[in-house]
Amino acid sequence: MRYTGLIEKYRDRLPVGDNTRLISLGEGNTPLIKLENIPVLLGKNVDLYIKYEGLNPTGSFKDRGMTMAVTHAVEEGSKAIICASTGNTSAAAAAYAARAGIKAFVIIPEGKIALGKLAQAMIHGSTIIQIKGNFDDGMEIVKEIADHAPVSIVNSINPYRLQGQKTAAFEIIDELGAAPDYHCLPVGNAGNITAHWMGYTEYKDAGKASKTPVMVGYQAEGAAPFIKGSRVDNPETVATAIRIGNPQSWDQALKLSKESKGWFTAHSDDIILAAQKLLTEKEGIFCEPASAISVAGAMIDIQSGKIPEGSTVVCTLTGHGLKDPDTAIGQCDQSAMINVNPTLKEVKKAILDNM
Ligand code: F0G
Repeated sequence: MRYTGLIEKYRDRLPVGDNTRLISLGEGNTPLIKLENIPVLLGKNVDLYIKYEGLNPTGSFKDRGMTMAVTHAVEEGSKAIICASTGNTSAAAAAYAARAGIKAFVIIPEGKIALGKLAQAMIHGSTIIQIKGNFDDGMEIVKEIADHAPVSIVNSINPYRLQGQKTAAFEIIDELGAAPDYHCLPVGNAGNITAHWMGYTEYKDAGKASKTPVMVGYQAEGAAPFIKGSRVDNPETVATAIRIGNPQSWDQALKLSKESKGWFTAHSDDIILAAQKLLTEKEGIFCEPASAISVAGAMIDIQSGKIPEGSTVVCTLTGHGLKDPDTAIGQCDQSAMINVNPTLKEVKKAILDNM
């Protein structure tokens, strides 16, 4: 059967009617890849999987929520959607609005979104409103805008977003035949970790899994309100996707962390970038910096024994590496690029010198 997106696949668990027009780009159904080389490097016996959400249609997990949010907005007769974004939500909103034939307005922090995400928002024809402020400033405006303009909010405060995103947990259980012991995620607004917990608990309550995982959330050191215990006014990190100081799903995330016996930890930009590079060089998997923090954090917690040997661990790689080419190129050794004349002799020399 042709795969036609996550609403069709999980429609009995989603708020959608029989006659609803589905706005889908075939999102979901992303690969769960077992890491082969990193566990060996760690010298630890763990089953470590990544859920490669960067392979969604617009290159991030946001498509899971956006298919639901835009489907609902269109059903309600909305002609325009709006979001504040660190980049990926804007890319998804722009694409799904294009598909639906409605307008998208995206509020982004000037100069602080990765190039690929900006390209997506522009090419899909959204109206981009750049602010001299950060994501949190944009979010405050979006929360008030619906009283002033005829637009539907598609940030994760829209409950339909989390409904769509919870399907990632369904897919993992459907594929592994059980919930993992640990699920590690990058945390910004904390919508995605909340959605995963919804999915895991829903499947457990339905008898489709015997347990729920321990939920582990990682934040960048310069944008770590959950570790600080209060909002951060000027968040800063190379992982621009999670450059957020005032998470909208604060209460839900604290509650689920406690219920699942999980924890939040912060890691530095250097650790994030090193994990991004390790994944590309040792596993052939390219994710954006924010995503790499899930593997960076899991590696540290496996090494310390906080995540014990024998565990099954899933790390979500939330966005594709191509989203942020500048950061990727910036952390590569430029000497890997060899300039030669177009002759057999010079190309052969370049190969033999570098074997
Ligand atoms: N990873 C990536 C690649 C993201 O784009 C985001 C959030 C997160 C992780 C964190 O997820 O907010 O649910 O805790 N990006 C939003 C955006 C804020 O606007 O694209 P969260």
